[in-house]
Amino acid sequence: MTKVLLLHGPNLNLLGTREPEVYGSMTLYDINAEIIKFGAKQGVEVRAQQSNHEGGLIDALHEARHWADGVVFNPGAYTHTSVALRDAISAIALPVVEVHLSNVHAREPFRHKSLLAPVCVGQISGFGWRSYQLGLQGIMGII
Ligand code: DQA
Repeated sequence: MTKVLLLHGPNLNLLGTREPEVYGSMTLYDINAEIIKFGAKQGVEVRAQQSNHEGGLIDALHEARHWADGVVFNPGAYTHTSVALRDAISAIALPVVEVHLSNVHAREPFRHKSLLAPVCVGQISGFGWRSYQLGLQGIMGII
């Protein structure tokens, strides 16, 4: 069975109450439930994790080498800053799709740059919680 890591970065544990006008009203729990259900219908096992810490996200990516076929990753603000996460994505040699709830390119200039997108198979941005669903569809096609 195909297995996918659904990985969420900092502050995404606050979804539902965090700037709902930007990120929507669904909680992280709700989004994970939708994506796990969607994956199951396609015969894909989705395991969800979240960390507010760069090192925790790196550990999750390293561990994914041992069980996952691909990763759907919302790195939150680390998208725009983290060389360490970029190196981790390059190191694990698994396909990773970068996803964002908001359209980062329509927001502040500092969000326009992703350090991670060049080492990901693609980026999906701006479709709310459905960005994760589109990310999963994309990674399934690649796997
Ligand atoms: C985000 C966009 C990032 O710029 C921001 O720092 C986040 C959420 C998104 O899903 O739209 O934390 O990744």
